[in-house]
Amino acid sequence: MKRTKVIDALKRTDFGSNITVMGWVRSKRGSKGIFFIALNDGSTIKNIQIVGEDQNFDEAMVKLITTGACIKVNGVLVESPAAGQASEVQAKEIEVLGTCDSTYPMQKKGQSFEYMRQHAHMRLRTNTFGAVMRIRHNMAMAIHTYFHEHGFFYFHTPLITASDCEGAGNMFQVTTKNLYDLKKDEQGKIIYDDDFFGEQTSLTVSGQLEGELGATALGAIYTFGPTFRAENSNTPRHLAEFWMIEPEVAFLDQEELMDLEEDFIKYCVRWALDHCQDDLAFLNQMIDKTLIERLQGVLKEEFVRLTYTEGINILQEAIKNGHKFEFPCQWGDDLASEHERYLVEEHFKKPVIMTDYPAAIKSFYMKQNTPVTVPEGSPEGSVGYRGCVAPGPTMQGTDVLFPSIGEIIGGSVREESLDKLQAEIQHRHMDTTHLEWYIDTRRWGTCPHAGFGLGFERLILFVTGMQNIRDVIPFPRTPKNAAF
Ligand code: 4AD
Ligand code: MG
Repeated sequence: MKRTKVIDALKRTDFGSNITVMGWVRSKRGSKGIFFIALNDGSTIKNIQIVGEDQNFDEAMVKLITTGACIKVNGVLVESPAAGQASEVQAKEIEVLGTCDSTYPMQKKGQSFEYMRQHAHMRLRTNTFGAVMRIRHNMAMAIHTYFHEHGFFYFHTPLITASDCEGAGNMFQVTTKNLYDLKKDEQGKIIYDDDFFGEQTSLTVSGQLEGELGATALGAIYTFGPTFRAENSNTPRHLAEFWMIEPEVAFLDQEELMDLEEDFIKYCVRWALDHCQDDLAFLNQMIDKTLIERLQGVLKEEFVRLTYTEGINILQEAIKNGHKFEFPCQWGDDLASEHERYLVEEHFKKPVIMTDYPAAIKSFYMKQNTPVTVPEGSPEGSVGYRGCVAPGPTMQGTDVLFPSIGEIIGGSVREESLDKLQAEIQHRHMDTTHLEWYIDTRRWGTCPHAGFGLGFERLILFVTGMQNIRDVIPFPRTPKNAAF
């Protein structure tokens, strides 16, 4: 007989029909010659209850139905007398497909997340990780659907690259060279001529640069793929391998970019509320009692749009009023997560899109704000732009800061002027050998354009209420850990 998935079995009302279900035993209990099995097959957070009479089954077989075992049940679908479930299965035949002894690491309930990370290959079978992985899948569907519906083309950028998009130099090298016998030139530099690609290559930190080539030809594209960063950040928000979504759009200005960021992220959150109700209800109960309320809150709120300079003023004001931060936040400093979270969680109590960062702390490709005359009385060295005054030159970045996450999106308008882009590259002493193709977009038919990158796992953190980024990806890659 054909197998019915548990999610479908629970919806069926043709009581009295034969049914076959398969899955893994969550628990078994018995009393007065009857046993009850909670069976889960991963299709839903919900278990289906299997009821059997001891006298109808081989005693030795029944003993093998332990937590974690895999079984096949043929039986009859019946209306359930128990509360909270419409149907259950009265077992006629049970076959143990895979036994599971007491060494099964996920046997006990309520293990710590730390413990489960050490057994990440088996944690997927727990309620929490099942819920997180189903939500992760749903978020991927939301993202593809959003962009498809809005006329963006899914554009595939290479994972192996010779350029460093973010210019931060934290890249993993890709080589087939014999590391025990490296040939070097007179200056002691490694010779790459005989390497697979004939030059030094790495895993990409971002698909943006190639994404811009797509956007300036197809109008609007998005990427969705793995990204790699060899930053030695052992935090609950950083992975060495994470998934990023990078839309890039021609003829988009800063206001429109912010509109896109806000609309897109709200669409994803709404999708979760609409499509992941059971899993969210579980996580709301077990992980974070304010989860659903927080998701609904984001949909209601209009995101605050705030310049970096205004943000710094608020933080300085907080310090004056006695608030203590671990890291400094003078104008020109990169904001730490504690600063971002102060603005979002304590000051505004809603998501913030922070704009117009100091040029020096952002990437080379961002569009510079055109300076205007500053009002009289402004401090020396001030630069005016778009109705604001800042102590130095700024660029049109648009990062989205979220409660409990900090930065969830990093975005910007791109510098479309050939001269300005080249000046910035020179100013940063960047090697243009591997950037000429990128600069060509500004040489031939340059156009205003903008885009952003959303860290997929940071979105999943927000939507699931999980606290550690290692727990929202099946097999996390972090410093000193590439297990599984
Ligand atoms: O702010 P980032 O570095 O921006 C870029 O890479 C741009 N090229 C994006 C673009 O404009 N197309 O990274 C974008 C986002 C961050 O906001 C964060 O959500 C996520 O990627 N991210 C990480 N997520 C997990 N682990 C890490 N180590 C991450 N680094 C960045
Ligand atoms: Mg960033």
